[in-house]
Amino acid sequence: MEHQKIRGVQVPSLGLGTYRLSGEECARAVERALALGYRHIDTAQMYDNEGEVGKGIESSAVDREEVFLTTKVWPSDFSYQRVIETTRQSLRRLRTDRVDLLLMHWPSRDVPLEEPLGAMMELQEEGSVNHIGVSNFPPSMVEDAARHAEIFCNQVEYHPYEAQDELLEQAKEMDYLLTAYRPLSRGEILNDETLQEIGGTHGKTPAQVALRWLIQQEKVAAIPKATSEDHLTSNFDVFDFELSDEEMERVSRLSR
Ligand SMILES: NC(=O)c1ccc[n+]([C@@H]2O[C@H](COP(=O)([O-])OP(=O)(O)OC[C@H]3O[C@@H](n4cnc5c(N)ncnc54)[C@H](OP(=O)(O)O)[C@@H]3O)[C@@H](O)[C@H]2O)c1
Repeated sequence: MEHQKIRGVQVPSLGLGTYRLSGEECARAVERALALGYRHIDTAQMYDNEGEVGKGIESSAVDREEVFLTTKVWPSDFSYQRVIETTRQSLRRLRTDRVDLLLMHWPSRDVPLEEPLGAMMELQEEGSVNHIGVSNFPPSMVEDAARHAEIFCNQVEYHPYEAQDELLEQAKEMDYLLTAYRPLSRGEILNDETLQEIGGTHGKTPAQVALRWLIQQEKVAAIPKATSEDHLTSNFDVFDFELSDEEMERVSRLSR
């Protein structure tokens, strides 16, 4: 497992996404992922699976303290009171007394940034939340958010077909984690010829090349979602090879 260092904190570069995982299947995927070595799990209040994620962590052989756990608050709950209430509910469902990272799931036009961020800081002070972050924020809004709270992360769509040059630069400057969601472009990149070709020289699949390309960049973590043992295993098998500078550039050029 590799890590990204953010403000002195080590965050596992590869995590498990859980959007669209539910019920027993979700609990099982989380438990299996932890058994395979994953130590970073991403959920959200909106995914309606925090209970199953909590169950998966609890029934695994891995201590809760070893897992970097993220959840997110949906914009309709951005009032001060609702951020506090819904996060307390998240903690109960996740069977934990704190999350490592709490994110604003999307920007909102309806509530000023300082309201949800203020509530998150309150939760941070009481020890229910380790770090605060945002998701789907453009660079200018990350700057605005950083005026109200220490922003540890911005989680955005990022994969070989979707460039994020500006946010990458900002993440390095401001020292935040750029978490790449939909890192496999939901399967779109699986048959890409360039990724296939590069993978061929390393004995790796296009998915593994895409994940490697992401986590090999400074400040970037990736959270592929997977259900099957096969996918969980192969997505985690990306720590035994490196892409050359030229290969990194070739993948960067795939962006549309
Ligand atoms: N912040 C946000 O607004 C936001 C938005 C979207 C997503 N996210 C987060 O990012 C996570 C990942 O994004 P995503 O779920 O949209 O898309 P993704 O991770 O790019 O793709 C998931 C799909 O790819 C399949 N897959 C996984 N590994 C594979 C492999 N090695 N080979 C072939 N297929 C593979 C999965 O199948 P199986 O499940 O059948 O294994 C699933 O259908 C989400 O689960 C969520 O946690 C956040």
